[in-house]
Order: sequence, then structure tokens, then C-alpha cells
Amino acid sequence: MRVLVIGSGAREHALVLAMAQDPSVTALACASGNAGTQTVAEKLGLADVADPDEVTALARQWRADLVVVGPEVPLVAGVADAVRADGIACFGPSASAAAIEGSKAFAKDVMASANVRTARAEIVDNPAHLDAALDRFGPTWVVKDDGLAAGKGVVVSDDLETARAHAMMLLDGGHPVLLESFLDGPEVSLFCLVDGTTVRPLLPAQDFKRVGDDDTGPNTGGMGAYAPLPWAPENLVSDIVASVVQPVVDEMAARGNPFSGLLYAGLALTSEGPAVVEFNCRFGDPETQVVLALLRSPLAALLHATATGTLGEQPELEWASGSAVTIVVAADGYPGTPRLGDVITGAEVDGVLHAGTRLRDDGAVLSAGGRVLSVVGTGSDLASAREDAYRRVVEVRLPGCHYRTDIALKAVEGKVVL
Ligand code: GLY
Repeated sequence: MRVLVIGSGAREHALVLAMAQDPSVTALACASGNAGTQTVAEKLGLADVADPDEVTALARQWRADLVVVGPEVPLVAGVADAVRADGIACFGPSASAAAIEGSKAFAKDVMASANVRTARAEIVDNPAHLDAALDRFGPTWVVKDDGLAAGKGVVVSDDLETARAHAMMLLDGGHPVLLESFLDGPEVSLFCLVDGTTVRPLLPAQDFKRVGDDDTGPNTGGMGAYAPLPWAPENLVSDIVASVVQPVVDEMAARGNPFSGLLYAGLALTSEGPAVVEFNCRFGDPETQVVLALLRSPLAALLHATATGTLGEQPELEWASGSAVTIVVAADGYPGTPRLGDVITGAEVDGVLHAGTRLRDDGAVLSAGGRVLSVVGTGSDLASAREDAYRRVVEVRLPGCHYRTDIALKAVEGKVVL
């Protein structure tokens, strides 16, 4: 099977690395990829990852049997629809199903119909209505961009002025704002393969969205993650599938808008049970890096079965025992304007996944994005996986880079409580 992966982050590096282990894969390519993916997969040029015609032409020209779309932007733009219409299997939802991530209002509507617990929410699209709406929420205020914002559209604050300023910034930019009630409790990311009807959950993970230690500073695309969750009750995954994921999958199928691909449920484990913080329509980053580090089943076969509606015929998933932790190394300035173009050393080793990197003609690896690397450690338990990740990250050299020093620390110390 010839597999083409679309995207250029550490998630895509993790995807190509995992699929390179699958004996059914005869050729792998990544468009546009990064300096890390091109060590495992052929690098293909792609001017616009969200152009359905360009991606389809590339897949046809490269003779792909399966296209795996990593990021949400091309999915919301209809890339998977176009690839499938050309007769090529595609892992990723249609544009209308990707609205589960692309439109928070759509996601809320599906959840309401499916009786799935989530935060109370209001959309505000008129600045004149903002203050009255803010009065109906908070503290704590949760202010979100209704559309896609690469994880950076959310502000959670106890300060009314901070919440108001973020909402006004979004409204001034022409973006409707979603105000939500705050969901207390530890957060969980559960990825599920979904082929329209059948749901196969992967290992649960937790990510770290704030830029600074102790969850300080602004939100980012994600600064680290670990899997599985040593503190989680044994039935957590089956409970979430039964009470959240399967009802949403069934509701979308009943609407004639079936979801096929990776359904990412971001949840808060509240005192009243799991409640949805958000759905995403693709593998999450950086959780993918830890989940796939532990997967032992052949990934390409699973993604192909998902894409072709035959997931139910796949054997039970197999996992390595033990844990994985990833630490994201970010460029100076991230999540604001990142400094680019610095030489990185120490990144050409196992366990270092590339995100914003590119190769210079002389072979040097340069920083080319805000999140630059995702360093993965594994071990027989979470403490040893964490030690492994931090031992590897200190070997990386990138001027001005920063990373969190507390990824998975509370879980190792037994301080994550339900
Ligand atoms: N880990 C957050 C995301 O992928 O959106």
C-alpha cells in the first residue's frame, strides 16, 4: 500500500514513523513534511495544504492507495471529499463532518441532540451584546473563537477584563465568539478511530496547553503530553465511548453526515462525569506522539480500514505496556511571533520528532515554526518515561528555545485527582 500523509508537524512525523513499521506499506510520502519526516518518507511539494484540487492531483500523480490528512484546515476545506471523489481511499472526515471541529456551534447542536454532557454555551456575534452575555457567565470565563484557531483562540480567565478584551479582539477580527461555562476537573484527550459507525478508542492521554510551568501564560497548540493515565479509573475509556463518542457518531450518521476518521474528544472529568470541552476532527498534537509511541498494531492497516468502512473487521488493538511522555521544544517568542531560521543540533536521534523544521542545502536542520520539536520518552511506567524524555530534551540545542519542565509531573507525584 502506498500511503501519502498530508501535513508538516510532529503529529505527521509520528504518523509516518508508525506507518513505516507496518508491513503492508510499500511506499510512504509526506507533503510537505519537515526535516524529520523526510528521513522516513519521500518529501513531496505542496503549495497549499488546504487546496482540495492540488492535494488530489498530487495523490493521483504519486499513485497513492491511501491519503492520511493530518491537520484540520484541509479537512474543513474539503480535501478528504475531493480525494475520495477521485477514487482514492482517504483517512479524514468530509468537510461537513469536520464541522464538529470547524464550528463549535455545530458541535454543540450535535451534542444537544445526542444528549452528551458539555459546557453551557452562548454565541456572541455582536459587540453590543457582549457585556450582558459575560454577566451570564464566570468567574471563571471561557472565551473561544467559534472557528479554527490552532489551539490559540481560547482564553480561560478569572479576570473579566481579560475575558472581555479577548472577546473584543475576536469580534473586531470578524470572528463570532463562544462563551462557555467553566468545566472543572482533570482533562483527558481520547482519540477514537471511527468509520462512520464503528468506534475504536486509542489510549487516553493528557496534554498541556499553557506555555508555562504550572499552567501559566497563554494557550498554545500544546506543550507536552503523556499516555496512558495512571490515575484514571479502569472503565474511563469505555464510559467515554458509551456516554459521549458513540452517541455523537450515531447522531451524525442519523443526520446523513457520518464521521469517518479520527474523532478527538477533549473532556473534563467533572464531579458529575465526563463532559466535552471540545471535539476535534483529526489526531491531536502533541498527544499523537505519545499514543502512537505505544501502539503495536499496524497503523496503516487501521487507517485504511477506517477510511473504507471496515474497522469492525480489524483485530483488537495491541499496545506496549508502559508509558510515553512528550515535551515540546518551542522557538523563542512562541506562542507569539517565533524566531525562525536557527540551526538545531541534537535533533537527529530516536525519540525526537520534528515539527517546525527544515533542511538547509548543506544538511543543517533549521527551525521553521513555533513548535519546533517534540521529544518523546518511553518507559515501563510514567516516572521512567518522563525521565527518559527530559534526559533526551537536554541534548537538543536551539538558541532561545523553551519547554515546560513539569510535563506529567503531577501525575507522577499522584497529584491528579478526580
Ligand atoms: N492537543 C490539542 C490539539 O491537538 O488540538
